[in-house]
Amino acid sequence: MAEGLYLSSAVQLAHRAFRDTLRAGDTAVDATLGTGQDCQLLCQLVGPGGRVHGFDVQPDALTRTQARLAAAGLLGCARLHLLGHERMGERVPPGVRLTAFNLGWLPGGDKRLTTRVDTTLRAARAALHLLAVPGLLVVCIYPGHPEGAGEQRALLALAAGLSPRAYTALWQQFPNGGPGAPGCLMIEKIREAPPGIE
Ligand SMILES: C[S@@+](CC[C@H](N)C(=O)[O-])C[C@H]1O[C@@H](n2cnc3c(N)ncnc32)[C@H](O)[C@@H]1O
Repeated sequence: MAEGLYLSSAVQLAHRAFRDTLRAGDTAVDATLGTGQDCQLLCQLVGPGGRVHGFDVQPDALTRTQARLAAAGLLGCARLHLLGHERMGERVPPGVRLTAFNLGWLPGGDKRLTTRVDTTLRAARAALHLLAVPGLLVVCIYPGHPEGAGEQRALLALAAGLSPRAYTALWQQFPNGGPGAPGCLMIEKIREAPPGIE
């Protein structure tokens, strides 16, 4: 999509949400490290007193992120995990202010190593569970390939089923961007859900 003033991309919407939400000292999660671009911004926003937990299943993504953060002097607040995001609960304590997913494959990498519907859905549930109140889940979704279309369906169904007493959900898409246009899903936790209710 062409660079614009306010509506260039789903990632631009996500980054705006990062800036609006995160404060120095917060804990954030980057569930899909990739090249580390999102992680770098998260680290800048939480600062040296904060913490960013990053996850990816590809060693190359961790190497690229580590190099980027080191060059920016931001490694101190980051904890990088070579682990599927669906297992984030094993490494991240509750109280996360913001969790970001940027779905799909590693830019410049193997397109077969994309995020997958079942693990993405499990990870999104884990992320909601770990969020603080208030806390925000931000997911950039790319439905232009079959797995991405499945992720979009599954995540929108998850969002639609959440109790409005505990969560507020917002889905933004580019209606003139064609059938594979990316979207940005945000879910804010506004109250701890009673046990058994999402
Ligand atoms: C579109 S890229 C992320 C872009 C990244 N946030 C950035 O700033 O460059 C998607 C990433 O998700 C990773 N991924 C795929 N399955 C995963 C899983 N189960 N857990 C964590 N990461 C996964 C891929 O290896 C890939 O690096």
